[in-house]
Amino acid sequence: MDQEITASEQLTSNGQLRHLLNLKGLDQPWIQEILSQSEHYLRKPGEVPARDDSLAGRTVANLFFEASTRTRASFELAAKRMSADVLNLDVNTSSRIKGESILDTIYTLQAMQADVFVIRDASAGIPALIASKVDPHISVLNAGEADVSHPTQGLLDLLTIRQHKGNFENLVVTIIGDIAHSRVARSASEGLRIMGTRELRLVSPSGLQASPEYYPDAVITEDMNAGLEGADVIMMLRIQRERIKEKTSLMTDHEYRKRYGLTKDRLKLARPDAIVMHPGPMNRDVEISGEVADGPQSVITQQVTNGLAVRMAILAAISSGKSQQ
Ligand code: CP
Repeated sequence: MDQEITASEQLTSNGQLRHLLNLKGLDQPWIQEILSQSEHYLRKPGEVPARDDSLAGRTVANLFFEASTRTRASFELAAKRMSADVLNLDVNTSSRIKGESILDTIYTLQAMQADVFVIRDASAGIPALIASKVDPHISVLNAGEADVSHPTQGLLDLLTIRQHKGNFENLVVTIIGDIAHSRVARSASEGLRIMGTRELRLVSPSGLQASPEYYPDAVITEDMNAGLEGADVIMMLRIQRERIKEKTSLMTDHEYRKRYGLTKDRLKLARPDAIVMHPGPMNRDVEISGEVADGPQSVITQQVTNGLAVRMAILAAISSGKSQQ
């Protein structure tokens, strides 16, 4: 099921975005442009949110076969603010629980003229499988695929870093937590590599460590202090308990907090202007103290705001491809 879709299959022959399945193979100018487009959709708190008609007459179907708050809500708001018809399939009351396959669910919604499928699934390869089967005018957007890929999260993380740091070439980025099961770390590292980031450090306890095949240029360590020393950007991750079968091997929350929790004192090891990121959902006072999560270096709520803007920019990019069909 773990299929690779290349950049050329995500883009049409005119270079327009058709599917977004991963960041691998997309180039730096394309990413810089989508980040700049995302900025157009940002508004200050209290202002009327950005709106346009670029998806008028189109139908966006959100199919989340795994839990989500941020990604699902932001894709729904993004599509509505761009005047699409939006279908949020309630998985628990859909015919999938009667045994219908995911492809039959997709073909059913395709027959109702859905144009865009936003997919989150716990199995690797599902977004690419669907992309390979749908009609040519249909787009598939990966909203989180097992531990493999979460490309819109990767883009919103890049946007947040660009807003604070301007460039990537001089940055040390440290990701701390359960890298082994993290699609967020996979997409962030793909994006950071494309943007030419100077150094990526991955810090985890043994058993939750990154597999070097997915992180060819990264420094992989169990030493949190070494990972934090002089870092410009710190990205904290929760333990993805839902993906871990052998839970008895995990540390208790108390032990984890002692060894790998980001506290105000530990944060002092990083550069004074370091930013603290977390994709959410957070386990406060486990991987990150409440004081740091709500502190002056935290950009966590800005990541959420950027997530909506990035998803609007991605929907606009696929709609401009459709208007040429
Ligand atoms: N970051 C993220 O994907 O959050 P949700 O699981 O709430 O969508």
